[in-house]
Amino acid sequence: MDDDGPMAADGRSGRFDKAPALAGMDVRVSRGRDEAATVAEVESLYFAATSGRPLYETKETAAHYAQLYGALLARPDLVAVQARDDGQLAGFAYGHPWSWAEQADSWADELRERLGEAAASLEGRIAVYPLAVHPGYRRAGLGRLLLQTLLDAAGTPHAWLITRDEPTPAMAIHQREVEANRSRSRDT
Ligand SMILES: CC(C)(COP(=O)(O)OP(=O)(O)OC[C@H]1O[C@@H](n2cnc3c(N)ncnc32)[C@H](O)[C@@H]1OP(=O)(O)O)[C@@H](O)C(=O)NCCC(=O)NCCS
Repeated sequence: MDDDGPMAADGRSGRFDKAPALAGMDVRVSRGRDEAATVAEVESLYFAATSGRPLYETKETAAHYAQLYGALLARPDLVAVQARDDGQLAGFAYGHPWSWAEQADSWADELRERLGEAAASLEGRIAVYPLAVHPGYRRAGLGRLLLQTLLDAAGTPHAWLITRDEPTPAMAIHQREVEANRSRSRDT
């Protein structure tokens, strides 16, 4: 079920005609505002990554997530990973340690209510917000690399991914990483 999303979503499609390759990709960690990707870059990448099958997210949703990112940049404990190819953002992920005491919006209230007792297990874990890879770079291991780099930089293997509860590529990568982490802890 390869996702053949919108190659022209951000007007960069011409650069992505060749087979994707991670060699030469510049992968960097940033914290807070220091050397962070811009809000406009995140919006453009998020839209390119999510506007096609199976998510069909709108420009408004991309703008909303980018604004959220902009607001969260004020947190010094925000950890982000950017992958750039020739300066252009090809993949991105960010997160921060989750604290229920900081959450004051209706989305968090609903999440806590739905999770019930399990809500406590999210406390202190890294909440991974968008993990996004431009359609021109998919299935080359970049999503996994971003996630692993983010967790390494955050200093914890304990994270949770904010995504839709549907059989999307994001769910597939999450399942796979959960299995990989289980077998790593069995081996050590
Ligand atoms: C989810 C996403 C980041 C994966 O990026 P990627 O670079 O293609 O992922 P990887 O190449 O590292 O794939 C890692 C594993 O995830 C799974 N996976 C990734 N894409 C998949 C797909 N389209 N179908 C099924 N499994 C998939 C596979 O198990 C894959 O391993 P494999 O290639 O060895 O089989 C990318 O599809 C994306 O940006 N999607 C839209 C945004 C999104 O949903 N983000 C998450 C929530 S905000």
